[in-house]
Amino acid sequence: MTERFVSHYNQVSCAPFFFYFFLCLFGYFQVDCSSSSFHYSSPKTTHFCPPDQSLALLQFKNETFSNPGYYATCNEEVFYPKTNSWTEGTDCCSWDGVTCDNVTGNVIGLDSSCSRLEGSIDDNSSLFHLSHLQSLNLAFNDFGGSQISPEIGRLKELTYLNLSRSFFGGLLPYEISHLSKLTHLELSLNEWTIEQKTFDFLVSNLTNLSLLNLGTTNMSLIKSFSLLNLPSTMTYLDLSTAGIQGHFPDETFRLPNLQVLYLFGNDQLTGYLPNSNWSSPLRKLHISFTNFAGKIPDSIGNLPFLEIVHIEGCSFTGSIPSSIGNLTRATEIVFASNYLTGHLPHHVSGLSYLTTLDLSGNSLQGRVPSWLFTLPSLVSIDLSNNMLNGPINPFQSPNSLQEVRLQKNEIHGTIPNSIFQLVNLTYLDLTSNNLSGTVKFDMFSKLESLQYLYLSNNSLLSFTSSGNMDIKYSLPSLQELNLSNCNVNQFPRFLRNSGKLTSLDLSNGRIHGRISKHDSEGWKNLIDLHLSNNFLTHVELHPWQEIKILDLQNNKIQGSILVPPPSTQVFLVSNNKLSGQIPPSICSLSSLQYLSLSHNNLSGTIPSCLGNFSTELIILDLKNNSLEGHIHDTFANASSLRSLDLNSNKLEGPLPRSLANCNMLEVVNVGNNMISDTFPCWLGCLPKLKILVLRSNRFYGPLCKSNITLPFQALRIIDLSRNEFTGFLPRAIFVSMEAMKNVDQLLIDL
Ligand SMILES: *[C@@H]1O[C@H](CO)[C@@H](O)[C@H](O)[C@H]1NC(C)=O
Ligand SMILES: *[C@@H]1O[C@H](CO)[C@@H](O)[C@H](O)[C@H]1NC(C)=O
Ligand SMILES: *[C@@H]1O[C@H](CO)[C@@H](O)[C@H](O)[C@H]1NC(C)=O
Ligand SMILES: *[C@@H]1O[C@H](CO)[C@@H](O)[C@H](O)[C@H]1NC(C)=O
Ligand SMILES: *[C@@H]1O[C@H](CO)[C@@H](O)[C@H](O)[C@H]1NC(C)=O
Ligand SMILES: *[C@@H]1O[C@H](CO)[C@@H](O)[C@H](O)[C@H]1NC(C)=O
Ligand SMILES: *[C@@H]1O[C@H](CO)[C@@H](O)[C@H](O)[C@H]1NC(C)=O
Ligand SMILES: *[C@@H]1O[C@H](CO)[C@@H](O)[C@H](O)[C@H]1NC(C)=O
Ligand SMILES: *[C@@H]1O[C@H](CO)[C@@H](O)[C@H](O)[C@H]1NC(C)=O
Ligand SMILES: *[C@@H]1O[C@H](CO)[C@@H](O)[C@H](O)[C@H]1NC(C)=O
Ligand SMILES: *[C@@H]1O[C@H](CO)[C@@H](O)[C@H](O)[C@H]1NC(C)=O
Ligand SMILES: *[C@@H]1O[C@H](CO)[C@@H](O)[C@H](O)[C@H]1NC(C)=O
Repeated sequence: MTERFVSHYNQVSCAPFFFYFFLCLFGYFQVDCSSSSFHYSSPKTTHFCPPDQSLALLQFKNETFSNPGYYATCNEEVFYPKTNSWTEGTDCCSWDGVTCDNVTGNVIGLDSSCSRLEGSIDDNSSLFHLSHLQSLNLAFNDFGGSQISPEIGRLKELTYLNLSRSFFGGLLPYEISHLSKLTHLELSLNEWTIEQKTFDFLVSNLTNLSLLNLGTTNMSLIKSFSLLNLPSTMTYLDLSTAGIQGHFPDETFRLPNLQVLYLFGNDQLTGYLPNSNWSSPLRKLHISFTNFAGKIPDSIGNLPFLEIVHIEGCSFTGSIPSSIGNLTRATEIVFASNYLTGHLPHHVSGLSYLTTLDLSGNSLQGRVPSWLFTLPSLVSIDLSNNMLNGPINPFQSPNSLQEVRLQKNEIHGTIPNSIFQLVNLTYLDLTSNNLSGTVKFDMFSKLESLQYLYLSNNSLLSFTSSGNMDIKYSLPSLQELNLSNCNVNQFPRFLRNSGKLTSLDLSNGRIHGRISKHDSEGWKNLIDLHLSNNFLTHVELHPWQEIKILDLQNNKIQGSILVPPPSTQVFLVSNNKLSGQIPPSICSLSSLQYLSLSHNNLSGTIPSCLGNFSTELIILDLKNNSLEGHIHDTFANASSLRSLDLNSNKLEGPLPRSLANCNMLEVVNVGNNMISDTFPCWLGCLPKLKILVLRSNRFYGPLCKSNITLPFQALRIIDLSRNEFTGFLPRAIFVSMEAMKNVDQLLIDL
């Protein structure tokens, strides 16, 4: 696609003597100057850069500053200012990026791409003195949002113009349409706006245009029908992310030479795929995230060269034509996030080069056909979020598969053993299906490349240990494992050496007994551990350095609290059988955000540090224990605390006044204790307090006559029952409870 003009002037055989001498003086050519056998040779190869053009180039160098300090890459190569090699007194035809006509010597090509040029190309730019230029590449520079001068229209010999990603802005000058010899026009990734007039003249005057790239420019002013006039020479058209609106003309798909069409990211562009007369050379079709609709026509299967077809995030309906099964060259088929229905094709004859198939997020029905897994080049399948059902038949796989996503369907039956033979599998997600049967852990033993395994929410599936087998293999690459909600009967001991494991979810299972240090010793990188809703009695904790979430709720864990490592942010152990005191060392968890120890048998006093040990703490839930003594008056200013729940303990003394420091508080629940205090009018200043429960304590005296304006303005639920309050209900306090008046769900329990 890209025309390249190569300098033929690296070696000069001969020159008029005076010039030759001059060059030798400067030492630029390795020629034996002392040789007396020097002769003039054919004048055809003796042309050097004409002085005026040499000067123009030097001036251009002078006008555009190459910023040397700025190090970045350009198309995976290092930026290199080509103008560095341009020095006065040397033949400009030998300069980096400069190409001369090998007969006339005129400068016909200039490639200053990736040169970190800055400045602008204004009316006086020396560039416009290079009137013989046929090829100009200024891509990947930084012209700081400036407008390119309309004088560009004077470079009438240009056949190749590349201004990609060079930070031009403003309007694209209309004069660009004077460049009627252009075959390649690449203007992508700039900030300019293209007017209707410019575009219309451009497509009507550039009759030899083969490549047009206007991707990521602003074409919002273009009426899409003017695309009708594109020249039939077009092979490559990129109008992606350009804000084109309206209806895309079918005719464009019929341009006889079109190989590449990119329209993605124009969300206001509507259109249909044609039923017939497609451009037969089409290789790449990418129209994702547009508003194209209608059916995918059968005729798409007749495109013999089609390699890539991406129609993700459009509004296509109907079924997938079975003709796609004979796209012999396709490598990527992405039909995700449309409204496709019906079954997948039953039979395919092509697709032998297919690496990626993504049909996720549609409403496809029927079975997952087993031919899918047998495509010889397939690397990634995504059929997630459909309505596929039926069991997956056993298949003979060529092992190329690395990623399989079938989650959120209605697939039933057992997981075919063939899946466990995919030795190169890195990603398997079968979450939320209706799979059944029993998986023995050693079935995973061949999946040594596996990094992500998600099988959760298959309520008829179950997992059991394979006894001593489970310590004879390991999954060394595993990073995430989720077997939540699918009847895990034993702790998977093969995980012991999964040193890359970051997330493990075995919640809602049937694991009994103990998880020992030995079982989890290899998990150096563990971040999330979810073991809630099992029958565990002991969980021994490791000093995991990275752990953030530790969820052990709803088990039968006994003994005293084991304080997790200091990195912990979420520590949930409610509904267990913990006993003893809350150890003050829990206050070492200075990043803790959620702490729930409720519904255990904890006793003793609350450690005094608990009000101020973590400025991150959001939820503190200690309800339903046997905690006693005073609540320490240590709640700190910078507190993030939103919910404090101490209900159903044996706490005494007054409510700590420092709670008024916790500006984020939404819930204060101290019900069912023995707290003895007057009504906490001072909580009225908390702007977000929604729920205040004081029931069943020893609060006494009158409710307050608050002198704070608008106290309790966010309150929705207040429960004062079973206390020793006296006197009147002060009208003022309820009048100001604005939130209560505005919600339908409210409760006042006196
Ligand atoms: C434009 O130039 C850039 C940088 O050299 C290059 O990567 C890109 O392929 C060129 N575009 C065309 C159409 O030649
Ligand atoms: C480059 O610009 C400077 C001043 O900006 C001038 O002195 C110098 O002569 C210029 N060089 C060329 C080659 O134009
Ligand atoms: C001049 O260059 C063209 C291509 O640009 C090439 O085909 C031709 O052989 C060259 N002529 C000479 C004399 O080098
Ligand atoms: C172009 O050059 C002329 C004379 O040197 C100067 O007056 C004018 O301001 C320049 N224009 C721009 C756009 O630089
Ligand atoms: C079309 O190209 C011709 C030839 O270069 C030029 O004279 C004419 O001005 C161009 N027309 C438009 C509308 O750009
Ligand atoms: C278009 O290309 C053809 C064939 O190369 C050539 O004869 C013709 O002059 C070109 N047209 C323009 C406007 O450059
Ligand atoms: C594109 O250009 C139009 C018209 O000049 C302007 O209203 C719009 O804001 C521009 N869009 C973007 C994304 O710059
Ligand atoms: C498709 O091409 C055939 C043959 O050239 C022609 O008769 C027919 O009208 C074309 N159909 C469309 C929709 O352009
Ligand atoms: C392409 O697919 C269609 C529908 O499956 C089929 O009828 C046709 O024979 C196939 N063509 C080729 C060349 O395989
Ligand atoms: C599995 O992956 C390895 C390494 O990436 C590769 O060499 C091998 O060819 C793959 N196996 C198959 C059957 O594709
Ligand atoms: C799949 O399981 C869900 C939940 O158990 C159930 O509602 C649904 O009917 C099942 N679907 C099929 C096709 O068995
Ligand atoms: C409210 O009353 C208290 C004590 O009675 C007093 O210290 C405080 O300044 C008063 N606040 C306002 C806003 O009047």
